[in-house]
Amino acid sequence: MNEEKAKKIMEEISQRFEHITDLKELIDYKVEQLGKKGKITTLQAGIKDAVDKKEYGKLVNTVKNHFNEIYEAKMKLLEEFELKKKLESEKIDITLPATKVRTGSPNILEKTVEDMENLFMSLGYDVVEGPEIEEDLYNFELLNLPKGHPARDSQDTFYLEGDKILLRSHTSPVQARTMLEGKGEKPIRVVCPGKTYRRDDDDATHSHNFMQIEGLLVDKRATLADLKGTFDVVAKHLFGDDCITRFRPSYYPFTEPSVETDISCFKCKGEGCPICKNTGWITISGAGVVHPNVLKMCGYDPSIWHGFAFGFGLERIAMLKYGINDIRTFYNTDLRESKVFDRRED
Ligand code: PHE
Repeated sequence: MNEEKAKKIMEEISQRFEHITDLKELIDYKVEQLGKKGKITTLQAGIKDAVDKKEYGKLVNTVKNHFNEIYEAKMKLLEEFELKKKLESEKIDITLPATKVRTGSPNILEKTVEDMENLFMSLGYDVVEGPEIEEDLYNFELLNLPKGHPARDSQDTFYLEGDKILLRSHTSPVQARTMLEGKGEKPIRVVCPGKTYRRDDDDATHSHNFMQIEGLLVDKRATLADLKGTFDVVAKHLFGDDCITRFRPSYYPFTEPSVETDISCFKCKGEGCPICKNTGWITISGAGVVHPNVLKMCGYDPSIWHGFAFGFGLERIAMLKYGINDIRTFYNTDLRESKVFDRRED
């Protein structure tokens, strides 16, 4: 190779560079020249056959430097160009309307539970939980419902192992568990929300699986009047300040006296309508003064301690509050149903 030839090669290189318009092409061209079998690489290898090796080497180096110099410059140029192109294509138009972010809605039953929990916490209650798979001991025995007691029938439930382990038929076993933990020494103020199970024919108002929120207060001076006052606060919180409450005598083996707690119908205000079945009143929980036998069995001396307990059906509360007329609404997976009660914008 002589100087003339080197010059020619360099010219060719310059020309070729001029036609390159993107980075990929540029890199391909580098491979073509400087890759293993590249043209410049081959020239370099030719040194072994050159007569004047020094001269040859010098020329090849000039060619190579020429290539690299243009390559670097071109690379910088193309990179800048591509960045500019990218920035332009990604330009954000801040005047365009925003894309809506789809959010979920709280489950209406969950919302009711939280509402009740918050209310009771504001009254100084703790929220506790108990197992859904329960022992007969807590679900019945310690609640003054010994084996063979006729009141067991109404809550006949799902037994899992013989007659000892079952799906709890109410949240009342958490009363027994909490009292046993209190060891007959500590006053108690708890609510326990959770699932319960009963053998039941499912229809618009019944489900074999539903939720309750249990309440238990044990102290040295707790009376039926305190229960009435508490119920009044709950009812007004749920259904408005003009809600009137009343107690009707009832029977539960674990409370004495026992009551059904009613609210005045928020719909017809006592006139009579389908919601209150023309009575003007709606029953929303069972309650009563904790039976001395229960206190005793759970380690509290009934001559010192007194208490009251209540159990609300949560679905029932939610149905009344939100005007839902089928309990199955809570358990199917139609998300639109939660959406209906969500005040936030879609
Ligand atoms: N456990 C009762 C039920 O499920 C409700 C209740 C709770 C009654 C507490 C009295 C006291 O029907």
